[in-house]
Amino acid sequence: MRLGVLTGGGDCPGLNAALRAVVRKANVSHGDEVVGFRDGWRGVIEDDTLPLDVERCRGILPRGGTILGTSRTNPFKRDDGVDRVRATVARHHLDAVVAIGGEGTLSASRRLSDLGIPVVGIPKTIDNDVNGTDVTIGFNTAVQVASEAIDRLHTTAESHDRVIVCEVMGRHVGWIAFQAGLAAGAAVLLLPEEPFDMEAVSAHLQRRHAKGRYASIVVVAEGAKPKEGTLALPPPEIDEYDHERLGGIGSVVAGEIERRTGLEARVTILGHVLRGGSPSAFDRYLATRFGIEAVEAAHDGDFGAMVALHASDIVRVPLASAVGELKCVPRDLLDRVSRIFLD
Ligand code: F6P
Repeated sequence: MRLGVLTGGGDCPGLNAALRAVVRKANVSHGDEVVGFRDGWRGVIEDDTLPLDVERCRGILPRGGTILGTSRTNPFKRDDGVDRVRATVARHHLDAVVAIGGEGTLSASRRLSDLGIPVVGIPKTIDNDVNGTDVTIGFNTAVQVASEAIDRLHTTAESHDRVIVCEVMGRHVGWIAFQAGLAAGAAVLLLPEEPFDMEAVSAHLQRRHAKGRYASIVVVAEGAKPKEGTLALPPPEIDEYDHERLGGIGSVVAGEIERRTGLEARVTILGHVLRGGSPSAFDRYLATRFGIEAVEAAHDGDFGAMVALHASDIVRVPLASAVGELKCVPRDLLDRVSRIFLD
């Protein structure tokens, strides 16, 4: 078989581990050849390739980023994008393309697959917002990095009797804020799933600090929004997948806390720190298992499938069931934990 492989969308720790697994499984188990495409679907549209084999992938397992590069190029938003994808697949005599991506890349993959292009998906994104899988590659590392950072913010907040607002990534969903915030004992969690009330947040913090010296960490996902009409935010930029480019809500929240409570507040924006660096052992393991299963799916002719984690099993689900709607933090889970811990 001849396989193409690409990494699309925002990078995350574990992409190289997935590439290595795809290449090893393909080369060693099946004697397949693998063509890497640079920068996601851009590389396919423009036929920009990097041949991959076991030698080329040596040493990349613990490395963050992606040796293929990535972009948010959407073939459906480019002139002749789909025809050019089809032409590249034919030119390289590819039997399948393994697309490693988040919601945007996998949505395009699903549409391409519906048009007869043989695609298998691997879900990755630190946001963990892809349906059909318990977790995506990169999420575990991002939560680990965020919770370590919040631990550090706690000790400095204690020394100064301050509120520290920690902004984490999470465009439409608050999985990172939720899990890292709980793991590190945050006082307030602000998630995109539930518009927040600045007045209630301020009152809560005031109550905490009225008890004496206190450290309060407010974890805010970058996509969190205030209740309608309560706070004005600047309009975000939009990319080719109609995604908003966010960042900055933490500073707004910290400013409002100071203004409304008189407490001293600071802000730390973790941003791309959560996407960089070496993947956790969990992400390396998950990426490796996903990579192996994706090659198996290609050999089975299971196109239009996405590999996924269900409990401890690696399974395949239709790409169609994974995209379209984002996987949010469920309301009841949020309610159950916030009542107990966030006080
Ligand atoms: O990949 C998901 C993500 O990290 C989001 O959490 C974030 O909003 C976005 O990507 C940032 O993208 P970029 O690096 O293109 O600004």
